[in-house]
Amino acid sequence: MSKFFTTFFHHLIIIFSIAYLIIPSSCSNNTCRSYCGNITIDYPFALQNGCGHPGFRDLLFCINNVLMFHVTSGSYRVLQIDYAYQALTLHEPHMSTCETLVLGNKGNGFAVEPWRSPYMNPTPDNVFMLISCSPRSPLFQGFPDKHLPCRNVSGMGCEEYYGCPAWNMMGHKRTGSSSFFGSGPPECCAVSYEAIKGINLSKLECEGYSSAYSVAPLKVDGPSDWAYGIRVRYSVQGSDEFCGACQATGGSCGYGSDGIRQVCMCGNFNSTSNCDSAVALLSSGARRPMRLKMFAGRFGSVLSEIVN
Ligand SMILES: *[C@@H]1O[C@H](CO)[C@@H](O)[C@H](O)[C@H]1NC(C)=O
Ligand SMILES: *[C@@H]1O[C@H](CO)[C@@H](O)[C@H](O)[C@H]1NC(C)=O
Ligand SMILES: *[C@@H]1O[C@H](CO)[C@@H](O)[C@H](O)[C@H]1NC(C)=O
Ligand SMILES: *[C@@H]1O[C@H](CO)[C@@H](O)[C@H](O)[C@H]1NC(C)=O
Ligand SMILES: *[C@@H]1O[C@H](CO)[C@@H](O)[C@H](O)[C@H]1NC(C)=O
Repeated sequence: MSKFFTTFFHHLIIIFSIAYLIIPSSCSNNTCRSYCGNITIDYPFALQNGCGHPGFRDLLFCINNVLMFHVTSGSYRVLQIDYAYQALTLHEPHMSTCETLVLGNKGNGFAVEPWRSPYMNPTPDNVFMLISCSPRSPLFQGFPDKHLPCRNVSGMGCEEYYGCPAWNMMGHKRTGSSSFFGSGPPECCAVSYEAIKGINLSKLECEGYSSAYSVAPLKVDGPSDWAYGIRVRYSVQGSDEFCGACQATGGSCGYGSDGIRQVCMCGNFNSTSNCDSAVALLSSGARRPMRLKMFAGRFGSVLSEIVN
């Protein structure tokens, strides 16, 4: 009987010890992951300073459970972060949709700081529809010798957008839409982000804009079914082995106070590589095996009291 219990508890100690060794590294706290409303904020994004990838620092803010994205052109609401496709969906109240046209040059358009542009750009299948641009707009310079930059993007363009209820209030005549310079420039000009690099409504002298994206490979029927918003693709650049190795050893990826250098946060110490590296061990003094010994020792003595 007593021998059975001794063996049983002996096995229990071994099981607990192994679990104690394994659990901290395989499901340790990701100190940088957080939530805003129902949106999960995870690498490369973060809400806390020092967390995430340096290319995405000072970008997201959680205000009353609404996730905001802030770049040089303005603030946007984040509707979704798609980690699998590495894309964000943004919206702002001054963006025109199929229901409403917002004119008066109130919209943000879209432009990011030059240092950020390698990390994020609107997707190639996102169409920007620029509305009521001045004939003096850089968009139309050189016409009629040069081609207008206006074109359909991923099957979405102004010809179809004119069919939206929003245009009823403008008294838009669909027939006249493509007869551009006979009667002035087109009321709407659709472009991809790549074509003009930066949607700055002041610079382009446009009254408003709309933005839509296609959720490939779905083929949607008309402009009332388009998804309105700005779809931004993000990339950390390169293979990001640093963060992979950091997370694999139970760390959270962050960056140093210079805002450039990546650091691996390992609980109570930071590493310049990962949480199991020689550098990390040196500075932490081989913490894990010591904790294991203490744990097994205390647990063992309690057990031996019970068993005896
Ligand atoms: C994880 O975080 C919780 C709450 O912040 C804390 O109580 C717990 O000790 C942490 N666990 C580990 C393994 O760090
Ligand atoms: C988050 O909540 C909003 C409504 O508050 C809802 O429209 C949206 O689909 C939700 N998103 C997710 C990912 O659950
Ligand atoms: C680790 O780095 C983060 C981000 O730079 C910083 O906030 C934190 O204080 C550092 N922790 C230690 C223990 O140095
Ligand atoms: C947009 O263009 C205007 C006029 O050229 C300029 O003053 C402004 O800084 C630009 N905005 C952005 C976000 O680049
Ligand atoms: C865009 O597509 C529509 C219909 O699919 C077509 O009528 C129109 O000419 C196209 N516009 C441009 C600028 O290619």
